[in-house]
Amino acid sequence: MKLIGPFRQVVTLANLPLRGKLSDEQLEIIADGGILINNDKIQQVGNFEILKSSNPNAELEIIEGEQIVLPAFVDSHTHICFGGNRANDFAMRNAGKTYLEIAESGGGIWSSVQHTRAASENKLLETLLQRINFLVSLGITTIEVKSGYGLDAENELKMLRIIKKAQIQTKATLIPTCLSAHLKPRDFDGSNEEYLGYIINEILPKVKEENLAKRVDIFIEKSAFQPEESKDFLFKAKSLGFEITVHADQFTPGSSRIAVEVGAKSADHLEATIDDDIDFLANSDTVATALPGASLGLGEKFTPARKLLDAGAIVAIASDWNPGSAPMGNLITQSSILATFEKLTTAEVLAGITFRSAFALGLEDRGKLAEGHKADFVCFKTNNFQNVLYNQGSLKAENVYIDGFKVK
Ligand code: NIG
Ligand code: FE
Repeated sequence: MKLIGPFRQVVTLANLPLRGKLSDEQLEIIADGGILINNDKIQQVGNFEILKSSNPNAELEIIEGEQIVLPAFVDSHTHICFGGNRANDFAMRNAGKTYLEIAESGGGIWSSVQHTRAASENKLLETLLQRINFLVSLGITTIEVKSGYGLDAENELKMLRIIKKAQIQTKATLIPTCLSAHLKPRDFDGSNEEYLGYIINEILPKVKEENLAKRVDIFIEKSAFQPEESKDFLFKAKSLGFEITVHADQFTPGSSRIAVEVGAKSADHLEATIDDDIDFLANSDTVATALPGASLGLGEKFTPARKLLDAGAIVAIASDWNPGSAPMGNLITQSSILATFEKLTTAEVLAGITFRSAFALGLEDRGKLAEGHKADFVCFKTNNFQNVLYNQGSLKAENVYIDGFKVK
């Protein structure tokens, strides 16, 4: 047993519901608190002095100075395994170039595919680990990572194997997702449907055999895959035993309905979701994931998180960190900005980057400081937890714990 504290404030999130709007009055804040840990799990959270006297044999880890503690964050949507860089896309977009002009001059997703295919496994692993370490330094200890820049069996499996290797070298939890249906690659000789069939027949069986991912994603959009072919693909992936997540309604509405119809764990993006579909999502267990990093990277509108929460949806927030649309990678900054534009309470933002995003990944053992939960948490040197979002990412995490051990 180990007792860590005292913390000026322990913000547990323990009693918050999975779905719908939250007020800050609902937050449980324990003053002068401590966290009692048994192996890698939280045993009890409460007043530090009381925990100390009722557990005289617990090893003490004393926190110096004034700090607050929150459950560690969960980034449920990233594309951080990639080669190359798309700074030129960003500059061209801001100079007024269109999607087509950028693609024609060698940019877009296809350019990341070429760089990722050309990169050595060591280089990809090294840069992936650097990005993971950056996220951990922000207090993010559970990270979803997608493939999707390989786009043929050899290179998609290469990406997923690298993500698996990275898991050996980090204490953070990595959740790999197969996004072979990101785009039909330019060198595939056949239709979209044939490419989706190739994923079902040639890629997913190997992903399963090598236990490389349990989740399948698709980008449903005019420029990528169309609604009907996508639905068919997702039902097939589901029947192979994969969990589903969808890039939905980024520019064109309609695909979040498909996510709900196939029973997806989450529908992500939703910048273009229409009111009827907000209600459809809100009446389902499919998590609605806002990706403010993509809105900021592209200069597009934000996901209607306020409306989704008011309708009763389960709303998560993730970074979408990728070389094209969301190059920033700072979920704390992005969530704070989303909050100002969408008028989200602190409780709604914190829930969106902890237990609600964990739920999108099928994880219910983390994201709250509560008995039996994984002992992952993040500490900030401040006397008021509100400063974390107020400082919009410039207040850095002081310490980060995974399984009860300090990793930063
Ligand atoms: O989530 N929308 C599709 N895919 C990514 C962008 C990937 C890229 O541009 O490389 C996204 O925004
Ligand atoms: Fe994405």
